[in-house]
Amino acid sequence: MRRGGNSPFFIYKIFIYMARDKYGNEFHPKEYDPDYPRVRCVKCGYMNSCKCINENKVPWYPRFPILEMGGVIESVTHNDGTYVEIHDFTNWSINKVRDSKILSYPYGMVVVEDFLHPDLLKYIKDNWPSRNELDENPKGRFALHDVSTHDKLNLILKYIFNNFHFKSYLSDKLGIQRELKEPFLSLWEDTIEWTINDVHVDSPTFDVTFGLFLPDDESTIEYGTEFWIPNRHTSNLEDTFQKSECNFLFRAPFKENVCYFMIRNNTSWHSSPDIDKEITRKHLYGAFKK
Ligand SMILES: [Fe+2]
Repeated sequence: MRRGGNSPFFIYKIFIYMARDKYGNEFHPKEYDPDYPRVRCVKCGYMNSCKCINENKVPWYPRFPILEMGGVIESVTHNDGTYVEIHDFTNWSINKVRDSKILSYPYGMVVVEDFLHPDLLKYIKDNWPSRNELDENPKGRFALHDVSTHDKLNLILKYIFNNFHFKSYLSDKLGIQRELKEPFLSLWEDTIEWTINDVHVDSPTFDVTFGLFLPDDESTIEYGTEFWIPNRHTSNLEDTFQKSECNFLFRAPFKENVCYFMIRNNTSWHSSPDIDKEITRKHLYGAFKK
């Protein structure tokens, strides 16, 4: 994403209204640029159209009203030369999140089907590491602990999980009214020997957790992340429960290109499934840090 006067279009002073409402009509409110997450000047109160010099601007929610209204955002060059680039990969995933149903029970989350653009999905699968490049830790889970260090796979952070436009819209979708910080991202292959499956709430250092399922076939479909309500109340989120101590709510389908996002809070109890046959749960798992 660039926002500056270094575009070749700068010379020609082209002005293109690109954000569109759900009917395809161009949408360009006077006060802000709909292709850019809204910020508000603390002095004049205007949003992205503020002309104040060196005044603090704060994020303003929703960041992308045009998306919340069912519209779209797109790359745009303004007549002052500023250029907002929103890559097709980013736009694809933003639109898939926009069109997915938000679940407020048991807690704020969204399960997104067909999450990655087909070209990005192919790129990730083509560059998936071989088993001998992965670290078995704990037993039965083969991991690349930090995807940002992988020279090919880190593209998914650039275009999706650590993309400013994507993160801004995801906070709108989840209704959390705060900026999502930098995520960590791991790659996991879980096998039959992997046995950690207590019902738990994720680390207190996590804000929003996500998982992108990337299996080779549909043999894993019944082995997605499970969501529960414990039978006993606790305010200690370090507690864990056995599945027999909880009511089962639902299981996300572990099929290719499904991605869930969930807010970490005192109701976000979940587990991994018990793996009882020879399958491999290939997935990317990460969290936006607090
Ligand atoms: Fe977890």
